[in-house]
Amino acid sequence: MEEILASIRATDADAGIVVVTEGLFSMDGDTPDFRALVAAAKRYDALTLVDVAHDLGALGPGGSGALGAQGVLDDIDIITGAFSKAFGTNGGFVASRDPNIHWAQLCFGGTFTYSTALSPVQVAVANCAMDIVTGAEGDARREALMANVQYVRAGAEERGLTLVGAPSPIVPVHIGSEALSRLAGRASFRAGLLATCLEFPVVPRGAARYRLSLSPAFTSAQLDRALDVIRDSLAEAADALANGRTSASAA
Ligand SMILES: Cc1ncc(COP(=O)(O)O)c(C=O)c1O
Repeated sequence: MEEILASIRATDADAGIVVVTEGLFSMDGDTPDFRALVAAAKRYDALTLVDVAHDLGALGPGGSGALGAQGVLDDIDIITGAFSKAFGTNGGFVASRDPNIHWAQLCFGGTFTYSTALSPVQVAVANCAMDIVTGAEGDARREALMANVQYVRAGAEERGLTLVGAPSPIVPVHIGSEALSRLAGRASFRAGLLATCLEFPVVPRGAARYRLSLSPAFTSAQLDRALDVIRDSLAEAADALANGRTSASAA
């Protein structure tokens, strides 16, 4: 990133630069080093914009996400987020201390201006979820969530599955080729597991994966069952491919 910023500044001293990233990467389940990112952005007079859709509420002290966990909440210029993950509703927000951001939204944010606003019910659900997220119940749920994350990551390794990313509610399990992904996804579904398989173009070619999104409500028995199904589905799909069959036959 430093090199990109340097090359922009080398050719244009006045260019407005915005460094855009996510609090928790939705495909890899990892998090940027925000202290380094903020320092580099400051060095090159760039703004920072962080989308906290996946980590707000689920990680960090009081649910403050990766930014809170790394102590940089006050250093980010613009924060966007969605209420469709930990908050269990829809809609989202743009937050900034700079009042110009409000005017920029009004003048240039087409969907902001021309779409219907959130309904009072959606706002009430988000508000209620915020009370849960920031209170003792939120702490308890995050603790249970991280216990499930550790449980799944350990269980995946025991079963010889390859994980991507760092411990977070997003647990990507490596599959590989798109062909393997199609067969494994279908086998898992037939075995009773609804787990999303991600393929190119949302991840690089040949880097297909299951993306598990964990909840504190899952029991260890459910998680064991899911991991068994994934292990068996991958084995079955690999066998089908090796033997030139176009469908894995889990019934
Ligand atoms: C990083 C990120 N930001 C924002 C969104 C938008 O979420 P929604 O369409 O539910 O508001 C998503 C959706 O998954 C996302 O992955």
